Amino acid sequence: MSTNIEFYARRQQLAEHMQPNSICLIPAALLVTRSRDTEYDFRQDSYFHYLCGFPEPQAWLAISNQTLKRKTKAVQSHSVLFCLDKDHEAEIWQGRRFGPDLAKKHFGFDSTFGIDELDEQLLELLDGHDNLYFAQGHNSDADELVFALLKALREAPKQSMQAPGNMVDVRPLLDEMRLFKSPAEIAIMRQAAQISGKAHIRAMQSAQVGLNEYHLEAHIHHEFAMHGAKHPAYGTIVGSGDNACILHYTQNNQRLNDGDLVLIDAGCELQGYAADITRTFPVSGQFSTAQKQLYQLVLDSQLAAFEQVKPGNTFKQVSDAAIAVITQGLIDLGLLCGSLAFNLDKQLYRNFFMHGIGHWLGLDVHDVGHYKIAGQDRPLQAGMVLTIEPGIYVSPDADVDEIWLGVGIRIEDNLLVTADGFDNLTHNTPKTIVAIESLMAQQHTHKQVEFS
Ligand code: GLY
Ligand code: MN
Ligand code: MN
Repeated sequence: MSTNIEFYARRQQLAEHMQPNSICLIPAALLVTRSRDTEYDFRQDSYFHYLCGFPEPQAWLAISNQTLKRKTKAVQSHSVLFCLDKDHEAEIWQGRRFGPDLAKKHFGFDSTFGIDELDEQLLELLDGHDNLYFAQGHNSDADELVFALLKALREAPKQSMQAPGNMVDVRPLLDEMRLFKSPAEIAIMRQAAQISGKAHIRAMQSAQVGLNEYHLEAHIHHEFAMHGAKHPAYGTIVGSGDNACILHYTQNNQRLNDGDLVLIDAGCELQGYAADITRTFPVSGQFSTAQKQLYQLVLDSQLAAFEQVKPGNTFKQVSDAAIAVITQGLIDLGLLCGSLAFNLDKQLYRNFFMHGIGHWLGLDVHDVGHYKIAGQDRPLQAGMVLTIEPGIYVSPDADVDEIWLGVGIRIEDNLLVTADGFDNLTHNTPKTIVAIESLMAQQHTHKQVEFS
C-alpha cells in the first residue's frame, strides 16, 4: 500500500522539478450524476490520488516550493489540503469525512483548511509565486475558479498582490513521474494482476454452452469484489463468437454457443491501479483446428513481442516483432497473399490486426506518459509497466475462407520492464492451448460428475 512517506516523496519530487518560486494546484475529482439525485461511485482523480491519497471529493491540493516565506534555501514541498469540514448531519446521510484536522494528521499535510475557505486562502497562497502549475482544461469548474483567482490577484487594490506571471501545464511533469512505477506501486499492480488472473480462470472454469456472456461478466466482477477490488478498471468485454471482432464490445448479452470462442478483456482496479488482461478461449473447452491455428499465431506474435521488451528498445520494435509474425502467419494460412515485404509495406495485416500492440498501464488503464520524445520513439526503461496485446479479428464478411470468419482473438498481458528484460505480472493467467484446454477439461469433468 502506498504510504504517506511515498506520497510525500512524490510531492517533494514535484517541488524539485517545478521552477523556483512555483505553486501547483490539483483539484480532486468531481462527483458525477448518474440519474436525477444519484451519483456514480466516486473515483478519485488519478493525479490527485498520486500526490496525496486523500479519498474524498470536493478537495484541492496546493503544493508550493517557495523558499522565501519559509526562510529556507532548500527546495521543500509545502502541501496544503482543502477538504470538506466535518458535519455530523451530512455524515449521517453521505458517509464519514476526515475533515481538515484529521486529514492533516492522517495524511501528513503541512496545513489543511475547510473547503469553504478555498477562495480566500488560495488568494493568499498564490500571491507572490512566479509560476502556477495547473492542468488547464482537465476540469472546467477548476479552470473557472483558477481564472477568477488570477483576476482577483491582478486587480487587487493598489497592486497589493502579485499573481503568478506564468501558467505552466503540470501534466508533463506528473506524467513522467507516473510513468516510472515505484516498488510500492508495483506491489499493488502485481496484486491487481493476480486478482484479475483469478477472475479469468474462474470465467474459463464457468463457461458452458447455453450460458450468456453476462454470466461470465458476473463471475469476473464477483471474483474482483471478493478480493477487495470493488470496481473493474474499465468496461469489461465478454465477446463470444463474432462479437469478439468488436474491439470495445461491452453489451455482453449474447448466448454462448457451441463451437464459438469467447474473448474476455477484464482487469480490476485495486487502490487506484489497473490490471488489463485479455484471454480468449473456446466455450466448449476445446479449440477447433482453425481456431487453434489462429490462436497459436496470436500467441507466437505475443511471445515475439515479449522478446523485444527490454531497456533501450522502443515500443515500435516491440510492435514490429509482433506484426512480422502475424503477417507471415496470415500469409501461411492463406488469409493474406503475396510476399511478407509486400504485405508489411502495404500494412495489409491491418485488415486483421487494427489496433496498437499495447500501452502504458498504471493509475489509468491507458496510462499517462509520452510515447515519443522530440518526435522519436522513446526507449523503454526499467520501472515502466505496459501491456502487450496482439490480436487477430476476422470480420464475418471478410473475403477469406469461411473457416476463419467471425473469429476474434486477443491475448493481453501486463509487463514490468526490468533492468534486463521484463517481469510478466499476469503470468499466472493460463494462455497456452494446452493450459486452457486442460483447465477447462478438469472443470467439465467435474461438472459431468456433479450432474450425473
Ligand atoms: N482494455 C482496454 C485495452 O486493452 O486497451
Ligand atoms: Mn490494454
Ligand atoms: Mn484490455
